[in-house]
Amino acid sequence: MRIPLPLLGTFALSTALLVAPAQSQSQPQNPDARAQVALEQMTQDEKLSLVQGFLAARMSPEELPDNIAKGAGYVQGVERLGIPPLAQSDASLGVANMGGFMRPNDEATAMPSLLAMASTWNPDIVEEAGRVMGAEARAKGFNAMLAGGINLVREPRGGRNFEYFSEDPLLSGVMGGRQVRGIQSQEVLSTVKHFLLNAQETGRTFADVQMSEADMRESDLLAFQIAIEIGKPGSVMCSYNRVNGIYTCENEFLLNEVLRDDWGYDGFVMSDWGSVHSVSIRQGLDQESGRAADRSDGYFSGPLRGALAEGTVTWDDVDRSVFRIVRTIYSLGLAESPLAAGQPIDFAPHLQLAQRVAEQGIILLRNEGNVLPIAASASRILVIGGHADMGVPQGGGSSQVWPVGGASLSLEIPGDKIYHRRLYMPSAPVDALREQFPMAEVLFDDGTDITRAAAAAREADVVIVFAEEFSAENHDQLDLRLPGNQDALIDAVATVNPQTVVVLETGNPVVMPWLSKVPAVLQAWYSGNRGGNAIARVLSGAVNPSGRLPITFPAAEDQMPNPVLPGSDIIKPIVGTDLYDIPASDQKLTITYPEGSDVGYRWYSTQGKQPLYSFGHGLSYTTFASGGLEVAGTTASFEVANTGDQTGAAVAQLYLVGRNGESLRRLVGFQRMDLAPGESRTGHMSIDPRLLAEWVDDRWLMAGGIYHFALGESADRLGDVVEVRFPDSQWSD
Ligand code: GLC
Repeated sequence: MRIPLPLLGTFALSTALLVAPAQSQSQPQNPDARAQVALEQMTQDEKLSLVQGFLAARMSPEELPDNIAKGAGYVQGVERLGIPPLAQSDASLGVANMGGFMRPNDEATAMPSLLAMASTWNPDIVEEAGRVMGAEARAKGFNAMLAGGINLVREPRGGRNFEYFSEDPLLSGVMGGRQVRGIQSQEVLSTVKHFLLNAQETGRTFADVQMSEADMRESDLLAFQIAIEIGKPGSVMCSYNRVNGIYTCENEFLLNEVLRDDWGYDGFVMSDWGSVHSVSIRQGLDQESGRAADRSDGYFSGPLRGALAEGTVTWDDVDRSVFRIVRTIYSLGLAESPLAAGQPIDFAPHLQLAQRVAEQGIILLRNEGNVLPIAASASRILVIGGHADMGVPQGGGSSQVWPVGGASLSLEIPGDKIYHRRLYMPSAPVDALREQFPMAEVLFDDGTDITRAAAAAREADVVIVFAEEFSAENHDQLDLRLPGNQDALIDAVATVNPQTVVVLETGNPVVMPWLSKVPAVLQAWYSGNRGGNAIARVLSGAVNPSGRLPITFPAAEDQMPNPVLPGSDIIKPIVGTDLYDIPASDQKLTITYPEGSDVGYRWYSTQGKQPLYSFGHGLSYTTFASGGLEVAGTTASFEVANTGDQTGAAVAQLYLVGRNGESLRRLVGFQRMDLAPGESRTGHMSIDPRLLAEWVDDRWLMAGGIYHFALGESADRLGDVVEVRFPDSQWSD
């Protein structure tokens, strides 16, 4: 329970009491009943003011109402009835401030990317990060975070994969749900987004994704369903694209049949900024966001009034949406927590958490000859590239956070003045390494001259090459190669010094043509406000790496379901915009996903392809053994032991590997376990039957028969198989 800040001001701190604002006796407590009372008192104009929002990001300060912080957008409230406005901020990595332009010098804790968060396989720390983000949003005058990016990573070249958790519905659903729960614990509404199948940026505003219902149900829809069950997000954000020919923000199947009728979702649907194409309130869209992004005054104003006048929309339709919005506001406590920007934030604990997330999310992909951790006796350490003398990179676009301490480097993107800038978090790996190795000489070369870097590498005990790739909204990668000449740089350096370590700082998987020459590789993702510290502590052994891949690293583009990024051969985005260099009449793109519901590791398994690194993969500085798997019905138990000489975290992963003779691969449970040397522990999991089932004739069918399970250290390193017989088929909605 939070004390609304104005209340706090009226108490001497020593006597601050947890005093909830007095509810007038006539006002019912139950959000639904309260919403009904408010609805009955509203004028038509007040109702219409709740179903449409404004685009704050591009507004001048004087256009914004006084009590609205400048973020992504805002929705007017109904002050007369005590219904607060919605002050909306992005997003999943912290309180966004794109390029630092929205609110100059307004700093927030920049969390590691969602791929890094998922790489922890630690739902508790992801919820804790959500609480921090929610608290900072509140303190900055926001009561709505556009977070919970849980689109499955179907497209390894996708520009926004750093804003999504994983390729697996269970991992994404759990992590997304827990992030939402953390944010909403601070009386801040959270979304889950982008509903549905917005897996790439190229052509996102007009692409039509074709997919069968069964494939959707068993993959992307299941991720949203799990996240909504766990997090109870106040709002679901529909996406830019079409699904099976119909824009998602006017897609009755998705918004009414699935979300409402099947799942009983009782929050409200908001659009993405610029994703509305009609007065689609009857089709399930409750609130148009950032109306100017759609058209001058949006659809849910003049055109909606016109539809009401014509009778194609009724006031019952409007009332239904207003009820959903207002009941959500009440249910999350927003009406009792007045917006109050400029509240003090104690960033220190938030930054420590950001560092812990990064430390747990760093993945040791390779460590031949135990090159890592770097020996304390190393006397000459050469660091090359990645702007590692300045900081660690971050992704671009609406989710971009202006970090605590300010960006240490801000690079323009040619042709893109505002929307995308390459920001670096003020946590330089070089400085952090000097702290970790006070006796060593830690040198830096920027890597722009390969000959010079290779010559310097000859003289070093250890060489650490930071390889980076900038991902951003509106842009997809065209291939899986590291940009620029980084591959050549790594190859040249590793050729002259076998003690070469590569630290990847990417938003996507990358291919590694130099891998046979490089004994150790870390994946650090975008590691956030204290990422340099986290990376250095893993390299020195102060932290034992425990991250596991939440997405597959293909060995080459031709291993992927879509070897060529759909549309990339015809569409070239105009940098930093949602526009394209092709006329509107040619803006057509159909995307099919051959993998269907077998996203990521499931595809590689069923196709018999061996990726470079598998989903769930990650090494440690210690060793683990697991076994004793027992599965009875839908509960499993197993043993995990730390067989090495230092404390570490194991991540037990339980996979369904066979069903009635069919070979398949599905993560059905996971558990992170911190174990001291020699310690062993029994793990327990309960399996969601939907992960064992197929979607058949509008329901889940879990067929009777023989099921095979195995415990794994990754999707393709599995232990003994256990057989379970389920007597008869079970159907469930
Ligand atoms: C963007 C994004 C969405 C974001 C919204 C507001 O275009 O697609 O994720 O929340 O607009 O900035």
